[in-house]
Amino acid sequence: MKKIFAGVAFLLSTAFVNAHAAGNIAAGEAAVKKYSCASCHGADFHTPIDPSYPKLAGQPQDYLQHALIAYQRGSDGPNGRSNAIMGGQAKTLSHQDVLDIAAYLHSLPTTLVLRK
Ligand code: HEC
Repeated sequence: MKKIFAGVAFLLSTAFVNAHAAGNIAAGEAAVKKYSCASCHGADFHTPIDPSYPKLAGQPQDYLQHALIAYQRGSDGPNGRSNAIMGGQAKTLSHQDVLDIAAYLHSLPTTLVLRK
């Protein structure tokens, strides 16, 4: 019986941790408004103000998370990504912001497709 309880407690705790790591779409929407991300990436995050700016809507969630964390690392560390514009943008974000924003942007409609 004790083992079952321990197993259930473990499953509940991992479920909680996973839900947390997945990010919150509503919180992500609030965060992109707070940080004015749309001013460059476009109101729908699919029509950026300049063709050289990436479309973010519908990109894979783990990729978006990774990209933002890489900008936070900059070019100093391993897996870093250096960009004069996005480096400054990403460094103001908390880790929770990154998770929430990735969840929100991933949830948006897109015409991007993944071909194999
Ligand atoms: C001043 C314009 C500007 C603002 C504001 C801005 N971005 Fe960006 N963003 C860019 C540019 C330019 C790039 C491409 C940089 C590069 O080549 O690495 C980019 C790249 C990205 C990428 C990587 C996309 C990919 O396909 O690799 C993500 C994710 C991203 N931005 C998210 C955000 C978020 C979230 C915010 C708000 C906190 C934000 N951006 C605000 C200009 C901006």
